[in-house]
Amino acid sequence: MAPNSIKYLILSYVLSMTVEAKTDQPSTTQPNWFQTVPNDYAGVTPTGAAPFLAENNPAPFGRSTFVPNAPLETSEPIQGSHGRNIFHLMGDLSPYFSSRDGFGVDEYPLPKGAEITQMHMLQRHGARYPSSSEGLDTWAPGIINATKQGTVFTGKLEFLNNWSYKLGKEILVPKGRQELFDSGILNWYNYGHLHNDSSKLVVRTTLQSRMLESAENFLAGFFGLNWRQNANILATVDPATTGEYACTKAGETMMASVAEPVATWMATYLKDRTTEFRKMSGNYNWTITDTYHAQSLCPYETISLGYSDFCDIFTYDDWEGYEYLMDIEFAAISGFMSPTGRAQGIAWVEEFLARVEGHFLDVPANITGANVTLDTNPVTFPLNQSLYFEFTHDANIISVLAALGMTQFADFLPLAGPPKKQQFVASKLVPFGGRFNIEIIKTPHKVSARRSSDGATAHDYLHGTGETRYVHFIQNQRTVPLHASFHACEKRDDGWCELSTFLEVQRESLSKAEYQHACFGDWTMKNYGAVRDGVPA
Ligand SMILES: *[C@@H]1O[C@H](CO)[C@@H](O)[C@H](O)[C@H]1NC(C)=O
Ligand SMILES: *[C@@H]1O[C@H](CO)[C@@H](O)[C@H](O)[C@H]1NC(C)=O
Ligand SMILES: *[C@@H]1O[C@H](CO)[C@@H](O)[C@H](O)[C@H]1NC(C)=O
Ligand SMILES: *[C@@H]1O[C@H](CO)[C@@H](O)[C@H](O)[C@H]1NC(C)=O
Ligand SMILES: *[C@@H]1O[C@H](CO)[C@@H](O)[C@H](O)[C@H]1NC(C)=O
Ligand SMILES: *[C@@H]1O[C@H](CO)[C@@H](O)[C@H](O)[C@H]1NC(C)=O
Ligand SMILES: *[C@@H]1O[C@H](CO)[C@@H](O)[C@H](O)[C@H]1NC(C)=O
Repeated sequence: MAPNSIKYLILSYVLSMTVEAKTDQPSTTQPNWFQTVPNDYAGVTPTGAAPFLAENNPAPFGRSTFVPNAPLETSEPIQGSHGRNIFHLMGDLSPYFSSRDGFGVDEYPLPKGAEITQMHMLQRHGARYPSSSEGLDTWAPGIINATKQGTVFTGKLEFLNNWSYKLGKEILVPKGRQELFDSGILNWYNYGHLHNDSSKLVVRTTLQSRMLESAENFLAGFFGLNWRQNANILATVDPATTGEYACTKAGETMMASVAEPVATWMATYLKDRTTEFRKMSGNYNWTITDTYHAQSLCPYETISLGYSDFCDIFTYDDWEGYEYLMDIEFAAISGFMSPTGRAQGIAWVEEFLARVEGHFLDVPANITGANVTLDTNPVTFPLNQSLYFEFTHDANIISVLAALGMTQFADFLPLAGPPKKQQFVASKLVPFGGRFNIEIIKTPHKVSARRSSDGATAHDYLHGTGETRYVHFIQNQRTVPLHASFHACEKRDDGWCELSTFLEVQRESLSKAEYQHACFGDWTMKNYGAVRDGVPA
């Protein structure tokens, strides 16, 4: 621990004593940071129609086998699926799942005597209604109007003759509450021991309705319904509700950078389906965009209402194409193919480093975009926790992976179709309720890079070596091998990296993000594909 950080710890202790005495009556010098009600920044919050799945569910689809809905009805037969699940091919609209394929390494138990000393989690909100910007709420009246004007849909589209739009906007759907509650329960089983029962955990999220409720549902899962006795929520204003992004250029270029590649791939993979649907649309001028909206309604209706007629009108190949569209979109909005990818995520990386090293954020706001007021206050940036929980959006998680330099996920995504062995897959990284957990592990000796397959045995230790700390990076319950992105990290069966090596690597992340240039510099958007390293080309 650097001498500086000890000073900060003492200072933080003194300051917090002063604060504690005043918690109930916030003074002008110390606001009530953890107040979340009333909330002027919840954003757009209309809810949707109440589902009636018991009445509407067509399962078991004429088959003798019955698969109970859990709670969604996802067992509809899909042409060409051969038992594979299309709900894992919906990019960021996939309901939460842990990838069976993983990220290149297997999972190993801790060797005997090893301890997890800290866990840092970055968690996405759960399943939500669509936002207005997706255009579904304006597409629906067009279809309904067409049928009123006499259009008769036929074949697979016949259900549209008597279809209505029942979705709300932006807020969590019930499945989203479940995803976060389940994550809270899972994290409690995995890490509950790390919680200090005599103190209140500070948990970070934003005031946007789905963000705040995601944190609350998680905490209800983690601690139970009386979680307010165990945790304080620090909720800040979400740029998604105000449009005020710290990184100006990110706000300006995000949509511009994805519009063209997305349109190109959409026209490619949906060409045949659009031709087919045109023939079933009477005098309605059915286009590529209509096909895409219809496809998006499958995940949205399923998570909102329990079942959707829009799913099985597409083939398994169509869903692979849909996933790839999401992959292109996220890589270009906030991943390694975005000129502001690293800059958008660098604040969390610096905050993570500060917490691991035990000091306040000590880099100026203008090179990370972090809120230095919050990050230098022991009340809002505690350093004595073993658990750090933060809630965020899909694009933020992607940008943090870029800012960390996880180049395993930097594959170039050609507009002609998916590359071989594609690593950057949006549904595997940021499904609804997606998250990463970073464990800091302390071992009495170095752990052999070749792990024994029979489990947590003592022969995994290297004789004659001393206490060592490791980083274990877990995305949606699967290990991400750190050696795949960082040459300095030794190639290990378990994908861990020595903490000292990892920290050394991460000291470069700040300059690599080029925050000032990326966010405020005088550069222009180049063609799709020009950016490969998350900074302006
Ligand atoms: C409804 O359909 C008619 C006939 O196609 C069209 O002229 C009109 O613009 C449509 N209105 C809306 C709101 O889509
Ligand atoms: C159309 O939907 C309405 C309301 O959901 C229902 O009352 C009606 O029976 C349906 N008509 C047909 C032909 O399915
Ligand atoms: C737990 O929290 C209490 C209250 O802040 C503190 O006194 C104690 O040192 C903490 N215990 C550990 C193991 O951190
Ligand atoms: C951290 O320190 C603060 C201030 O002393 C205390 O209120 C809090 O309970 C401590 N948290 C833990 C986890 O020890
Ligand atoms: C930092 O956060 C506080 C509390 O949410 C807020 O009042 C302040 O405006 C923020 N500062 C900046 C520079 O965003
Ligand atoms: C149908 O839509 C396409 C794409 O928007 C457009 O180019 C075409 O002119 C439209 N056709 C008719 C008959 O409106
Ligand atoms: C950031 O702000 C500091 C003052 O806090 C200033 O010295 C520095 O030049 C600024 N850096 C950039 C890149 O603007």
